[in-house]
Amino acid sequence: VNARDEDLLSPEYYGRHGYPHDRWEQLRNSDPVHHVSEWAGDPYWAITLHKDIMEISRNPQVFRNSPRFMMSATKGIPKEPFRIILDMDPPEHRAYRALASRSFTPKALTAIHAIIDSVCDEALQQAWTDDGEQTIDFVDRVSSRVPIWVIAQMLGTPREDWEMLYNWTNEAVGAADPDYQKGRSAEDTRRIAVEAMASYFASMIEDRRRNPQNDLTSTLAHARFDDGPVPDFELLNYMNTLLAAGNETTRNAITGGMLILADRPDLIRRLYDDPDLVNGFVEEVFRYVSPVIHMVRTPVHDVTIQGRKISAGCPIVLFYPSANRDEDVFESGHEFRADRAPNPHLAFGIGEHFCMGIHVARLELRALFSRLVQRIVQVELTGDVDRLTSNLVGGIKRMPVRCTPRHPA
Ligand code: HEM
Repeated sequence: VNARDEDLLSPEYYGRHGYPHDRWEQLRNSDPVHHVSEWAGDPYWAITLHKDIMEISRNPQVFRNSPRFMMSATKGIPKEPFRIILDMDPPEHRAYRALASRSFTPKALTAIHAIIDSVCDEALQQAWTDDGEQTIDFVDRVSSRVPIWVIAQMLGTPREDWEMLYNWTNEAVGAADPDYQKGRSAEDTRRIAVEAMASYFASMIEDRRRNPQNDLTSTLAHARFDDGPVPDFELLNYMNTLLAAGNETTRNAITGGMLILADRPDLIRRLYDDPDLVNGFVEEVFRYVSPVIHMVRTPVHDVTIQGRKISAGCPIVLFYPSANRDEDVFESGHEFRADRAPNPHLAFGIGEHFCMGIHVARLELRALFSRLVQRIVQVELTGDVDRLTSNLVGGIKRMPVRCTPRHPA
């Protein structure tokens, strides 16, 4: 289905068809800074080239994340119940980012390698219970579990709460999808979920102030700015963000990676024979799948990009999956190449708001896929994939697969 302008940010289009790669390719080649006015939401400029997304993202003084960092498919800017660091701009943004960014460096994360390994082992062990060759919903059994189990442990939440946390994050991020909607509207659904998470984390912060533990909640509960305390309300927003940002995105990178392996026993064999290839494979999964569809920036003054005049205040939409197929940067970008090098993809954004969880996501996918190829020699889809209705995250809600075990029971 060739996408039209009104489809580029239509949650329903993504729910039905997945990514409009043909249309993005046309835009990259004919109108890389393209004005879209006829659609359900506010008019915006669509940015589809790798180099433009890099330049815009690296200039946060001009291209701001306020007043919105994502487009909703309705007119106006919805009032969000909580703000998150993606809403902020420098200098405030830097101060907030610094509260937790030290916990996400590769060095700080060495402590969670073991957690990630055991979470992946457990998810895979539970995925196939009986004799191996059975159909499972890979999203339910594997990809949805790993990210939430990892971040939930980093935050220090007890295991019995993980299911609840998982549902809240679904509702917060996938609120436009009818499967997740609880309230009267997408905004309502998001608000209810976010408020529930906030009250949950409020009591956890309270607890960690009295009984500090070795977890991220304790780090945040005791965090201070150079010039004073961090308001509790902001800490709660922060925890919500960490939970939601890492969940849906990583889940879909994992599901997308599995989809790539479907009917590719050759690729599974290569990964099995050459364990080091998993790093390249995972980077290529990030590029090829690009779970985040878009982010928004708003220029504070008039700017010109690729010869197009953009007025101050008009939203600019950065389409990461398009940048990740940009033919000027990636040879045969529509092809999946596990050994692609270099691979300067923008799946995690770049610049001021560059994803804080990139190392966690990398560790998770590496651990999971290196274990998966030890267990299976082949995977086939046994039904259609069921996609998420969202213009922010390219999600798959269900993916039935049948795997052939490497060592039959
Ligand atoms: C495959 C998995 C993931 C993808 C594709 C992804 C993608 C992104 C993207 C595109 C951004 C915005 C970047 C920009 O505006 O330049 C972002 C920001 C962010 N991500 Fe991720 N992310 C992933 C996993 C995670 C994980 C696991 C966590 C945390 C545990 C996380 C936490 C964050 C946070 C806190 C931000 C906001 C950073 C800021 O505003 O300074 N992400 N991510």
